[in-house]
Amino acid sequence: MKILVDTVSVVEVGPRDGLQNEKVTIPTVVKIAYITALGDAGLRVIEAGAFVSPKWVPQMADTAQVYAEIPKDPGVEYPVLVPNMRGLERAIDAGVKSVSIFTAASETFNKRNINMSIDESFENYAPVAVRARAEGMKVRGYVSTAFGCPYEGEVLPEKVLEVSARLLDLGCYEVSVGDTIGVGTPMQVQGVIGVLMQVIPASKLAMHFHDTRGTALANTLAALEMGIATFDASSGGLGGCPYAPGASGNMATEDLVYMLDSMAIETGVDLNRLVKAASIVAPYLDHPLPGRYLQACTKGQMPFATSTPVQ
Ligand code: HMG
Ligand code: MG
Repeated sequence: MKILVDTVSVVEVGPRDGLQNEKVTIPTVVKIAYITALGDAGLRVIEAGAFVSPKWVPQMADTAQVYAEIPKDPGVEYPVLVPNMRGLERAIDAGVKSVSIFTAASETFNKRNINMSIDESFENYAPVAVRARAEGMKVRGYVSTAFGCPYEGEVLPEKVLEVSARLLDLGCYEVSVGDTIGVGTPMQVQGVIGVLMQVIPASKLAMHFHDTRGTALANTLAALEMGIATFDASSGGLGGCPYAPGASGNMATEDLVYMLDSMAIETGVDLNRLVKAASIVAPYLDHPLPGRYLQACTKGQMPFATSTPVQ
């Protein structure tokens, strides 16, 4: 294994990607405590919610209140998802400094998720990105279904490249390449990244792996080998898109940090504090958190540091 990356940026998506898919309503105060604890664990980018239609995703309806009441750590970014100009205006009113726009590499998923074709989504996002940047906001882009679509099946890497490049053309500082339904496998990941990197530098790419089939960590290693240094992950392995049938949680942040610690790859994240953050939200869910490191802890194994890194 040859990995040149020595520092990884972890983008914590639990409070958004995680909680958007929960059946039970999580009290706003719990979300605020959870986000605060994630910041205390050392995460520097924490997705705080989504200004999407509350009819489409009711779980994110309290994002303005959540955002207003998080004690803002000046060293932490709290991005929110915006699907359109209405969402951006809500973000501006809330004083948000960083937004994410999201589209997909497959038409049917995009239609189900944001009721727009891919082209329509770009017409929609072009003025959103201009306005957001004029307001001094950072804009991140997401490409969903980059490794497979729940409705259309196979997705061509060339399509992922086209959509990613269009997001960067809109002024996104980074594109998060999403395995929305967790179908990707390591060699496929390297193939897709290889196509993307013919045009886009690794520094502008992040990977967003859902762990539906247990391949997220293997896919992360494959991406690290390609020089990718930003990974989205979800505390406790929470997650899933309500418009992707069968999609389950993101790669668990604890599992990612545990693996990276053992490789002497710096994340700035404290594993024990991360476990504490997950324990804030866990009692409010109607199922156990799926993250493996966390499960090992709750099954009575002590949280422990990884073995001495092999240099
Ligand atoms: P639509 O129904 O086509 O839009 O939805 P509309 O313009 O007809 O509006 C419908 C209603 O929503 C109207 O209200 C609007 O005012 C309201 P009504 O007149 O019926 O009372 N509305 C809004 N309200 C609040 N905030 C807004 C907003 N916009 C409209 N921003 C729309 C189109 C895009 C709004 C809808 O489809 C939507 O909100 N979709 C979001 C779905 C979503 O959040 N999915 C999960 C996030 S993406 C994801 O998880 C994938 C990711 O993790 C990466 C990966 O894993 O691949 C990022
Ligand atoms: Mg996701």
